[in-house]
Amino acid sequence: MRKRIMVGLLVALVATTMLFAQGAQERKGPSKTLEIFSWWTAGGEADGLQAMINEFNRQYPDIEIINATVAGGAGTNAKAVLATRMQGGNPPDTFQVHAGHELIDTWVVSGFMEPVTFILKDAGFMDKYPADVIDIISYNGEVYSIPVNIHRSNVMWYSPKLFAQFNLTPPKTIEDFFKVAEVFKANGIPALALGDNEIWAATHLLESVILANVGPDKYRDLWQGKVKWNDPQVRKGLTDYTKMMGYINRDHAALANMDAAGYVAEGKAAMNVMGDWAAGYYYSQGFKQGVDWDWAPAPGTTGSFIMLSDSFGLPKNAPNRDNVIKWLTLCASQAGQDAFNPIKGSIPSRIDGDRSKYDKYLNAAMDDFASNAIVASVAHGAAVSEPWLTRVNDIMSVFTTDLNVDKAIAEFQAAADRYAPKN
Ligand code: GAL
Repeated sequence: MRKRIMVGLLVALVATTMLFAQGAQERKGPSKTLEIFSWWTAGGEADGLQAMINEFNRQYPDIEIINATVAGGAGTNAKAVLATRMQGGNPPDTFQVHAGHELIDTWVVSGFMEPVTFILKDAGFMDKYPADVIDIISYNGEVYSIPVNIHRSNVMWYSPKLFAQFNLTPPKTIEDFFKVAEVFKANGIPALALGDNEIWAATHLLESVILANVGPDKYRDLWQGKVKWNDPQVRKGLTDYTKMMGYINRDHAALANMDAAGYVAEGKAAMNVMGDWAAGYYYSQGFKQGVDWDWAPAPGTTGSFIMLSDSFGLPKNAPNRDNVIKWLTLCASQAGQDAFNPIKGSIPSRIDGDRSKYDKYLNAAMDDFASNAIVASVAHGAAVSEPWLTRVNDIMSVFTTDLNVDKAIAEFQAAADRYAPKN
């Protein structure tokens, strides 16, 4: 009897030890997942991300990617979900974040991120980025995210068919814009497609119209609080915006930004001002450049490039840190960027993208990025802090309907007084 008890105890002991050892091994062994959080759910955005995921899977077949997306352009909904998770101590392994104020003010200064300078250094990539790009992802001498692309905000997409039908030339200036817009209007065609069911699309249009009126230097100063909103050129920009609202599609408030870009390719509207993810959308739908769509700088903005950049970061306490480092190394690499950007409709943030992989539009965007005056996008987290942008979007929600320039000037100025950097 006693012998049996002894054997029983021994068996139990061995079994417990084995279980414990297995548990320890599971805890210590390499983690097998990687959660990537973004708002890329459709069109060229989802396809571009998938191309990079495929490349990751090829390199690391044992790691399962959890592609966590929250729909809504410009991060309309994703940013709120992310904030809840970060503040609740439940960060995704890595997340899409705009380079510039959105990254630095929202996540870095508040202490949520680990620096990733070591990733660029270890891979020998430090000198593969323009200094300006390194600058907007840096804080106190450390890099805090890996930029995977550069997008251009101030692009006018237009329908070559409609312009040919009415024998018109795509407008280079705001004045030309209104001339051609009159012709389209007289023929019952919306000259300008707007899809502002999410209000950022209106802010997106506004930043180009303001740039057209004030030029790049003053644009920079305006968004640093150094130019007043009652400046005559700024006022003219806001007035032009209200006039443009006379030429848009009736269903704009119910339409998504991608669908507004689609209106142009389908010949339902003549022009649309949107970032070059619209090109990614056209690629994904099989619309042909030169036939269904073409592009020019947004009217009045030739020579300037409103930039924004999508990047990925490493939150403190990321559950699968080693796998994030692998992902960020891929994001930083030429192979990763050249898999992603030709589909996404953006150009690489590195200086050595393989141009043969990019279409005519993206090659032209690379030329412009290298030679234009570069300014930062407001609508996409690069130029101003999130609280300021949120207020700008709120003002735009009302301004787009009431078209009250004086009231908008007062509100924009109050927002600048409250949120612009004080030094
Ligand atoms: C931007 C983002 C782009 C694209 C776009 C539309 O803010 O940088 O990558 O996703 O929103 O959703």
